[in-house]
Amino acid sequence: MTHKPLLIAFDGPAASGKGTLAAVIARDHGLPMLDTGLIYRAVGFLRAQKGLTLHDVDALAELALTLDLSVLDNPALRGREAGEWASQVAAIPEVRAALKQFQVDFAHQPSGAVLDGRDIGTVIAPHAPVKIFVTAAPEVRARRRWLQLVKDDPALTFEAVLDDIRLRDERDSSRASAPLEMAEDAVLLDTTDLGIEAAIELARNIVKDRRDAA
Ligand code: DC
Repeated sequence: MTHKPLLIAFDGPAASGKGTLAAVIARDHGLPMLDTGLIYRAVGFLRAQKGLTLHDVDALAELALTLDLSVLDNPALRGREAGEWASQVAAIPEVRAALKQFQVDFAHQPSGAVLDGRDIGTVIAPHAPVKIFVTAAPEVRARRRWLQLVKDDPALTFEAVLDDIRLRDERDSSRASAPLEMAEDAVLLDTTDLGIEAAIELARNIVKDRRDAA
């Protein structure tokens, strides 16, 4: 375990495995971890619950600014619908701005931190010494996500999940405000042909190399 603050940014598209890798690395180093997708999911979920439209920008920004973090425990946030709602509210610059300070503060803890999302290495923590961009082919990501979701929803088809993934990739990458993109100084980790153990080993090596070089 290191005593120097260690800040690690994981970014990548939906179901790339970044959350799993971020959790392992956080545990390795005893660091606090923030799944930033979950906070966008919470805002998307509350928007739907309150019946707000995507045009109610002021109300959505207020919702984001006053987000009660206890809602992050709600299992419904992990579902398919919440992912889609999250991606919609995440395209609104005012929502992103309202959620930014919390994430920046989280990244600046004395211990360091691990954050995963879409814009951690580019916007939230551009100074992070370790940035890993995790990706995989859409079909591979869709299969992994489908295997998780089908347990609770046996009627769900692989094709429906693949459509979701493609739609979210397109929206998250093409939005004007902080789109999903790899930071120039990030290391690419493509997990298309990797099992989880191999991906973890590679991520651990990247962290070690980057930390030593910092
Ligand atoms: O990582 P996830 O699938 O839980 O994220 C849900 C959505 O939230 C994703 O489609 C885009 C958005 N998001 C974002 O725009 N920026 C982040 N840092 C994290 C998530």
